Amino acid sequence: MVLSLASCVSVRSSSSSSSLLLLSRLLPSLLLLAALLACPGPAGGCPARCECSVPTRSVSCHRRRMLTVPEGVPIETRLLDLSKNRLRSLAPQNFSQLQQLEDLDLSANLLASVEPGSFRAQPRLRTLILRGNQLTLLPRGALAGLGELRALDLSQNKLVVLLDGAFEEQRRLETLELSDNQLVFMAPRAFAGLLSLRQLALERCNLSAVPGQALAQLRALETLRLSQLANVAEVPPHAFRNMPRLRHLTLERLPLLEALPSPAFLGLNLTTLAVTQTNLSAVPALGHLRHLALLNLSHSRVRVLRAGGLRGLARLEELHLRSAALERVEPDAFLGAPSLRLLDVSSNRLATLERSAFPEGHDLSLRALRIGRNPLVCDCRLRWLLQRAPPLLHAPATTDKRNPATTTPDDAPPECAAPASLAAKTLREVWSDAQLARLVVCTKPRVIAVATQPVQVEEGQRAWLNYSAIGFL
Ligand SMILES: *[C@@H]1O[C@H](CO)[C@@H](O)[C@H](O)[C@H]1NC(C)=O
Ligand SMILES: *[C@@H]1O[C@H](CO)[C@@H](O)[C@H](O)[C@H]1NC(C)=O
Ligand SMILES: *[C@@H]1O[C@H](CO)[C@@H](O)[C@H](O)[C@H]1NC(C)=O
Ligand SMILES: *[C@@H]1O[C@H](CO)[C@@H](O)[C@H](O)[C@H]1NC(C)=O
Repeated sequence: MVLSLASCVSVRSSSSSSSLLLLSRLLPSLLLLAALLACPGPAGGCPARCECSVPTRSVSCHRRRMLTVPEGVPIETRLLDLSKNRLRSLAPQNFSQLQQLEDLDLSANLLASVEPGSFRAQPRLRTLILRGNQLTLLPRGALAGLGELRALDLSQNKLVVLLDGAFEEQRRLETLELSDNQLVFMAPRAFAGLLSLRQLALERCNLSAVPGQALAQLRALETLRLSQLANVAEVPPHAFRNMPRLRHLTLERLPLLEALPSPAFLGLNLTTLAVTQTNLSAVPALGHLRHLALLNLSHSRVRVLRAGGLRGLARLEELHLRSAALERVEPDAFLGAPSLRLLDVSSNRLATLERSAFPEGHDLSLRALRIGRNPLVCDCRLRWLLQRAPPLLHAPATTDKRNPATTTPDDAPPECAAPASLAAKTLREVWSDAQLARLVVCTKPRVIAVATQPVQVEEGQRAWLNYSAIGFL
């Protein structure tokens, strides 16, 4: 009995896993006995109803209807999974023994509060998952002591505000998930201290303004996703400042946003930009984003792609303008964007897309064009699309496997809406069927009668000459 007690004490206070492993190898039965006799509750160093793995030093108590953090988790545990239980609160004593913890999953519980200092004894914690709880507030100090944290998931909670200093000790945090929280306010210094944060997701939040001041603390940020900014009607010119490393910015579901300042996103150096599900009626001036490779303006009210509207975007490879209100692509619309590889203008109101949209040679980089679900007029203006080698309108069977971006399953093949004789025929059918191809009329207009009409005007004034012409576009 004395021996049992002694070995239990040594197990509990051992901080070195190797001595523990040695002990368990030498004295497996004694250890079990010790646990049973002297440490009531957990059998064999594993809490009741949990599964423990010695080699990985992990303990899983996933979906065990636990109301409290179980007793008897081996102190050398590195990974603890308490997800899908019924934990309601956390206090400092819950984990005070588990100083080796690196991964802690508390997702899908009923946690309504995290007391300050709850994790003070976990200096090695790298991943903390609090997703899917009932947290309404993250009090200052809730994350105190977590200086090694790399990933923190607070999504699907009920956080309404983020207070100053909420993350002040998380200097190494790289990923922060705050989506699905109904956040309405973010204190200006809420993100102070997050010097290493590279990714931030704030999806489906309720913010009424871009939290520019809070975001300005995130000097290392590379990827930022803000979505469902249902009340945001404008993005101020310097909303995203002090973010020299930001490369990927997504602003999604801003139904009230009608315009962006010009130039927009000043001071940033983005490679991908998505401003989607907005009420934007024009392509914003973005020419200063010299490294922009992907631009997504889908689900907007953009009506026209204007000549030179993409000027300066020399590295732009993908333009997505799906499900907008596009009626017209002007000649030279793609001037200054010679690297364009993929153009997605599907589900718009385009009658045509003329080759002249691409300045001489600019269309050669184009590898994929998505123009399905548009009221296309099948006349010779569209012929260049199919005559080009390699063809732009891939049939699904010829999809380039190495480059799946060229077609997606929901890509509708473009169809003719007019002339009536070709209605509902796909462009591909029309051009591959000689009978149908004959219905595509491509005669240049020809002047047939010029009435002799002497006109006298002063220099600088307009003169009108009437003539008749025949032909088809
Ligand atoms: C957040 O927005 C949703 C949907 O618009 C709304 O139902 C909810 O009440 C809002 N929450 C807060 C805290 O404003
Ligand atoms: C979008 O803009 C149009 C024109 O300004 C306006 O009529 C419409 O109400 C706006 N939609 C929303 C959701 O604000
Ligand atoms: C902008 O980003 C590109 C791509 O990441 C990078 O090559 C370039 O050096 C950056 N320019 C500046 C001024 O930071
Ligand atoms: C562009 O944005 C739309 C709407 O948010 C989204 O569905 C689509 O996946 C995005 N496209 C790309 C290539 O990211």
